Amino acid sequence: MDKIRIQGGTPLNGEIEISGAKNAALPLMTAAILTDQPLILHKVPDLRDVASLCEVLGQLGVTSAYDAKSKTIKLHAPAISSCVAPYELVRKMRASILVLGPLVARHGEAKVSLPGGCAIGTRPVDLHIDGLKQLGAEIELIEGYIHATAKQGLKGAHIHFPKVSVGATENVMMAATLAKGTTTLANAAREPEITDLGECLIKMGAEIEGLGTDTITIHGKPFLRGTEHTVIADRIEAGTFVIAGAMTGGKLTLKHCNLQHIDYLLDPLHKAGVDITGDGGNITVQRASARLRGVDIMTEPYPGFPTDLQAQMMSMLTIAEGAGMVTETIFENRFMHVPELVRMGADITVHGSSALVRGVAKLKGADVMATDLRASVSLVLAGLVAEGATTVHRIYHLERGYENIVGKLSTVGAKLERLKDEAA
Ligand code: UD1
Repeated sequence: MDKIRIQGGTPLNGEIEISGAKNAALPLMTAAILTDQPLILHKVPDLRDVASLCEVLGQLGVTSAYDAKSKTIKLHAPAISSCVAPYELVRKMRASILVLGPLVARHGEAKVSLPGGCAIGTRPVDLHIDGLKQLGAEIELIEGYIHATAKQGLKGAHIHFPKVSVGATENVMMAATLAKGTTTLANAAREPEITDLGECLIKMGAEIEGLGTDTITIHGKPFLRGTEHTVIADRIEAGTFVIAGAMTGGKLTLKHCNLQHIDYLLDPLHKAGVDITGDGGNITVQRASARLRGVDIMTEPYPGFPTDLQAQMMSMLTIAEGAGMVTETIFENRFMHVPELVRMGADITVHGSSALVRGVAKLKGADVMATDLRASVSLVLAGLVAEGATTVHRIYHLERGYENIVGKLSTVGAKLERLKDEAA
């Protein structure tokens, strides 16, 4: 498995182009199942997860053609040739569960393996299943597969999610676009990626109200049509580079992204001593004080602080003056970066779902590895400010979520390279 070696201590200066959002692109791709006409998506990041989802979709009869240069993908499902998303493909990527709703809505049957993906907690799919059941799907769990049938089609319903879930909101919203009658989703997730998906579905002929609020109403249609849509900028990638800029010093400008979508970063980062300004579609970040200060953060559903930036923020706090408390409320076991940061000299104590980070003057380079996407990138950030060399091993997960991260960081002055891991 390949690795990244980083020589720490260089401030980042210059401009980075932000990619399309992985977490918007993947659900959008599964929307292609809902229509027999082509769906064309622009600004789809060139990532392993996109290729993995193409494989899953191909299995179902959805053809895909991705052009890595223009970042455009054309998906087309003239007919559903199979309703089975097999374990070998689904286990590579959790987002495959999002084929379940569209498939049962269009085809009346779906057999989707229970997912694997990042090892962050148990990550159940009960909310997806319950939501589809309320739309009239019959669901059985057989040998690790979710077998959903709705031979007479789905029927609109009032669904109240007992917990806010991004994936369940997306899955059930897509299914409801082809259900008979009206569906209301209460306690729905409000993430910008859901709004992006909803806007694309509207272009496909769906009737949806309340996007971006916790109550989404969908009036079902007999069929949807093809369309063209541009994926929103990746707010997690932008947030990661904002934190990188804050940690390393220098002046970093992130191009073509939305400051509003990273609103939750502004307050904690201002308190930590960082200036962030927005200008049109660009964000500029610069550290205002010589040393960062410790702050407390707690992850919450959008518009709260995202769990997908928790590890990066913790990395920043390791070198701040004073202490900061990081509380994770979305996923259990999402502190896998802690022992690795400690190997680099960080002072972190975990109590249940909270971690107390006492800042140290300097981190020291080390060999580290992580088995979750955001944990891996937090180690890259730590490596950028550590004394000496840091090698981040097993970058498989990192490359599932960050497009050309080595190239992007190199253009703004970071000293890092991607190497083949001979020992693996
Ligand atoms: C999505 C994102 C992921 C991000 C997460 C939170 C994609 C592909 N993934 O994941 O990167 O970290 O949102 O912003 O977009 N839950 C249940 N039952 C369910 C579903 C979820 O109990 O059926 C729980 C989860 O265990 C978790 C919480 O609900 O505690 C939120 O999960 P959810 O929002 O569904 O996350 P994902 O959609 O898996």
